[in-house]
Amino acid sequence: MSNGQTNTPAVEPLFQPFDLNDLTLSNRIAMSPMTRQFSPHGVPGADVAAYYARRARGGAGLIVTEGSAVPHDVAHYTNRIPHVYGEAAMAGWREVVRQVHDAGAKIFVQLWHTGLGRYTKETDNPDVPSVGPTTWFPDHPTPSRAMDERDIADVIAAFGAAAANAKAAGFDGVNVHGAHGYLLDAFLWDKTNTRDDAWGGTVAARTRFAVEVVREVKRRAGKDFPVMLRISQWKALDYTARIAETPQELEVIVTALADAGVDIFDCSTRRFWLPEFEGSDLNLAGWTKKLSGRPTMTVGSVGLEGPLEGRRVDFHKAMPVAVENLARLMEMFGRGDFDLVAVGRGILANPDWANLVRAGRFSELRGYDPEASRTRLEPAA
Ligand SMILES: Cc1cc2nc3c(=O)[nH]c(=O)nc-3n(C[C@H](O)[C@H](O)[C@H](O)COP(=O)(O)O)c2cc1C
Repeated sequence: MSNGQTNTPAVEPLFQPFDLNDLTLSNRIAMSPMTRQFSPHGVPGADVAAYYARRARGGAGLIVTEGSAVPHDVAHYTNRIPHVYGEAAMAGWREVVRQVHDAGAKIFVQLWHTGLGRYTKETDNPDVPSVGPTTWFPDHPTPSRAMDERDIADVIAAFGAAAANAKAAGFDGVNVHGAHGYLLDAFLWDKTNTRDDAWGGTVAARTRFAVEVVREVKRRAGKDFPVMLRISQWKALDYTARIAETPQELEVIVTALADAGVDIFDCSTRRFWLPEFEGSDLNLAGWTKKLSGRPTMTVGSVGLEGPLEGRRVDFHKAMPVAVENLARLMEMFGRGDFDLVAVGRGILANPDWANLVRAGRFSELRGYDPEASRTRLEPAA
């Protein structure tokens, strides 16, 4: 596909508006959620507002914030991860929202409980054990315990409370983090969920925790408040992991979640072009859209040569730009496989990624340099 003038992909279709419930996004490009750890004591400050506003001015129709802690003692692994609770944090978020809206974009906050993916070092409560569906987790970093009914109810309530706080702060929706091995995903994955009670045992039972979280989020924030749910097969500690071996298993998961109230699925893959199951070239977003009937967002190496590797920015690899894969992206988008396209590292490195792509200024895109992002909120110019 080409725009006829240059040998570059025709990306205009990405710059059409998209409606989700009562919300209209100005285009199909979203900034993917990215943990930055620049919010001391959980409070996003003026630098965080400027960081998101810059990317909103850079043309992304939707900003999805970094993973942010729900109000639960052991939700997060450092006290530099923003909270979605407490006066100071919510005042910080209101300013983030105001600046992003002024720049013409919409913004969802990502609601996150790390489960057993929590490191005790530097957390607010290092002596309190982390919680998960069971105590098994690859490369387990902390003392931990399996959740009882009370813990489960508390965490479900915490997601609901965070969603209500997000709505009150002016966010346009939430992205519930149900991916990458963190708490909701640990329930979905049979390796980390070997429970034999009502929260484990079958694909449907493993999905129940995420279903109840989504229901509570909808109950607290209202049925029209947009809920995006991030799911993935891969885990930060195991790229080959799968929560669904077959389309049938994926159908059980995503139809239950759609019924619970998910408005749009954020289907996290590391390379968007890879087929999810044999016999079809649909990726995870394509399959999820087909099986759930809900819109989806794709992600994974859009405009970059290779995938994200390493669970923390310290371990990420530098990655060159690869404009060529946008042609494949546009083919898949054009046939309706997904509705939104999330860009992570590309937008971190290029706050104006969407504007540059829209204008066909591909040669100005910079590759991803993890070093630039490790110690600074803004990569050096
Ligand atoms: C620095 C960094 C931090 C990330 N933090 C999160 C996070 O908090 N929540 C999340 O769901 N994904 C997180 N991710 C994954 C991204 O949202 C995205 O799915 C991934 O980078 C693939 O997209 P890309 O190839 O465009 O970078 C992070 C990625 C990076 C590079």
